[in-house]
Order: sequence, then C-alpha cells, then structure tokens
Amino acid sequence: MKEISCALRFMFSAEFWAMGLCWTVSLLASYWQLVLRRITGRCEVYPRSELPRNLPTRPVCIVTGATSGLGAAAASALSKEGFSVVLVGLSSELLSEAMEEIRKRNKDAHLKGFVVDLSSFCSILEFKSSLEKWLTDSDMHSSIQLLINNAGILATSVRPTPEGYDQMMGTNYIGAFFLTKLLLPLLKTSPVGSRIVNVTSFTHRAVFDAQINEDIVTGKCFFRSKEYPYARVYQYSKLCLLLFTYELHRQLNLDNKPWQVSVLAADPGMVKTNIMQEVPFSLSNIAYLVFRVLGLLQSPENGINSILDAALAPSHVSGAYFFGGEGRTLRSSALSYNTRLGEKLWNISSNMFFDLKLASQATSSSS
Ligand SMILES: NC(=O)c1ccc[n+]([C@@H]2O[C@H](COP(=O)([O-])OP(=O)(O)OC[C@H]3O[C@@H](n4cnc5c(N)ncnc54)[C@H](OP(=O)(O)O)[C@@H]3O)[C@@H](O)[C@H]2O)c1
Repeated sequence: MKEISCALRFMFSAEFWAMGLCWTVSLLASYWQLVLRRITGRCEVYPRSELPRNLPTRPVCIVTGATSGLGAAAASALSKEGFSVVLVGLSSELLSEAMEEIRKRNKDAHLKGFVVDLSSFCSILEFKSSLEKWLTDSDMHSSIQLLINNAGILATSVRPTPEGYDQMMGTNYIGAFFLTKLLLPLLKTSPVGSRIVNVTSFTHRAVFDAQINEDIVTGKCFFRSKEYPYARVYQYSKLCLLLFTYELHRQLNLDNKPWQVSVLAADPGMVKTNIMQEVPFSLSNIAYLVFRVLGLLQSPENGINSILDAALAPSHVSGAYFFGGEGRTLRSSALSYNTRLGEKLWNISSNMFFDLKLASQATSSSS
C-alpha cells in the first residue's frame, strides 16, 4: 500500500516526468555523438596501458562507494589489474562482503577497507590519517596512484549532512572535492604518474543554465524549497563534478610537472545498480525495462568499461571525458567547459574546504 501511494506521488509530479524525459534525451544525445564521431572519424580513443612496473610495491588505488554497483565492480577489476585496492564505503559489513566477493574471484587480491562517510568532512579527514598510517604500517610508499571518486546517490528527499549541506550535493560533489583536495599531496608524491577519475553522468547534459553560488553548491537553498527538486540536484551535482574535473586539469597543467597528476571524467551510461533505491521499486523497474528495450541498459561489469578506460589510459591523457567503453571519449556539455563557472566553483569549494579545515584545527587544539 505504501509502495503504491509513493509510486502515485512520484507519477503525479512534474519532476519525475521531466527526469524521465531529460535523462533519456541526454543519454541518447551521448550515444548519438558517439555514432557521429565514429562516422566522421573524430573519435579520440585511448587504449588501456600497462601498470607501471618500476614501483617497489603494487600501485595503490582508492575506490569510493566500493560496496555496491559500479564501485564494487571497478574495485574487483582493478585488483585483477594488479592494484592494491582501498575500498571506501559507509558500512563495515558491506565492505567485508565486497572484499570477500573479490577474493573469491581473485585469491591474489590485495585489499583494504575503510569506513568513510563522504558527506562528512570529519570522516574524510579521519580517513586521510588512517590511510597514511596504513601505508606506513604496510611498508608501502607514502603515495597513491589512482583515486576513483565514484560514490554517489540519487536522494529523493532533502537531508542535511553533518556540516549542514544537502546530502546529495555533499556526497556527489562536495565529498569528492574535499577528498581530492586532501589526497592531492599523496598523488603528487607518487614516483610514477598518478590519476584522479571522477565518475559523472550523462544527466549533466540536462542542465542548461547553471548558477554557481554557495547557497546552491552546498544545497542549502533546497532546505527552504517546498518540493525537493531531486532530479535537478542530481544532474547539477554531476555537472559540478565535470566543472571541477576540467578546472583541476587546468590548474595541474600550470604546475611545473604537467600530468604528474592527471584528472579524467568517466560516464558509465545507464547501469542497473542500487542508485535508484529511493525511487519506488515499481517505477525504477519500469525505467530499467524501457532502457533494456532500447538496448541501453548495462550490467555493472559492462558499465565500468569507461571507468577502467579512464583509470588505465596512458599517463599523458588528462581533462578528457570517457564514455561508451573501448577507450572512447566524447565532448561533455558546452556548459561543463565554461572556465568562468569552473573557476567560481573552485573558489567557493576551496573556501568551504579551508573554513572546515580551520574549524577542525581549532577544535582539535582546544580539546
Ligand atoms: N547506475 C547508473 O546508471 C549510473 C549512471 C551514471 C553515473 N552513475 C554514477 O556512478 C556512481 C556509482 O553509482 P552506482 O550506480 O554504482 O550506485 P550504487 O549501487 O547505489 O552505489 C553507490 C555507492 O556509493 C556509496 N555511498 C553512498 N553514499 C555514500 C557516502 N556518504 N559515503 C561513502 N559512500 C557512499 C554506497 O554505499 P551504500 O551501499 O552503503 O549506501 C554505494 O557503495 C555514482 O556516482 C553514480 O552517480 C551511475
């Protein structure tokens, strides 16, 4: 009964139908671009490269949201590639289960799990310390080679994070920004080229007019709105991830050693995972059925292809958007390349980061 009334509530909302329409068109637009690029021969394709062999220990890769869907499949595939994989998730039970699953398929897997809530700055800060301690205790080089910012949610109701941000913005964009900022020194000290892969989505194409200000980036404005515009928040969070990717790419290019740290975006397309768990079961199943009929629904094992392509692309590749597997890249939306928006987002996010860092330093020195 509850499921039926919930499904009816969704079906009678404009947000739901706009989501269905805009996201389908966005996905088709991505595939259409792929076809056009193939016909015109303008498709930039990057083959996967071998892991660096000149490291004393296995290269270290961090996968966030590694307890289900794309994150779990990516963690498994990257462990097979020879990475020492750090799995980041919300629950220690789910982390143990995910690691057990990987070990069943790969006895040689080198894995470590950390419970981290990416929507909490304190939790990310604690993770950085625990990670550094683990690297030291395991006699590994004090650096990481690959960070995959994969964790993400599609929240259908407004909820605050510990810092008072919107949960979906906090997890999908702000958490990835804070984690990257904190781990950048470990990526920069890598003796071989290192990489950040941000897992974004074709849904970013549905944003045509992005406002970048603190109220929207933190999602605080949604606490005041009558209806939570969940689809728009999700697609906006994915656009922010792209603006951040390209802005970081520009900033790293200014450093003395270009591409010592490269940054890429990966878009898996439409994949059957737990991402729709807050949408009524009956409606998410209908959506999956439609995409299956269109031939666009993938399993997580196939959906990770663009993530693996980005993770394993040659080290000189940076600032690209991977979509469609087979090493293929696309242009993301015109808005995502807007340098003015990218810079503004960077400045707002950095100010939030430094304010929280100062606050946490003040708390730890007073206690
Ligand atoms: N599925 C698609 O069609 C699709 C398409 C384009 C892009 N993506 C993106 O792909 C990424 C992976 O999503 P998925 O489809 O694999 O969904 P999923 O199966 O729901 O996996 C999401 C993962 O993120 C974790 N997570 C959620 N909130 C977290 C937090 N605050 N801190 C740490 N971890 C958290 C979840 O942990 P719990 O299980 O414990 O909640 C889970 O492991 C997301 O960024 C999503 O936006 C997905």
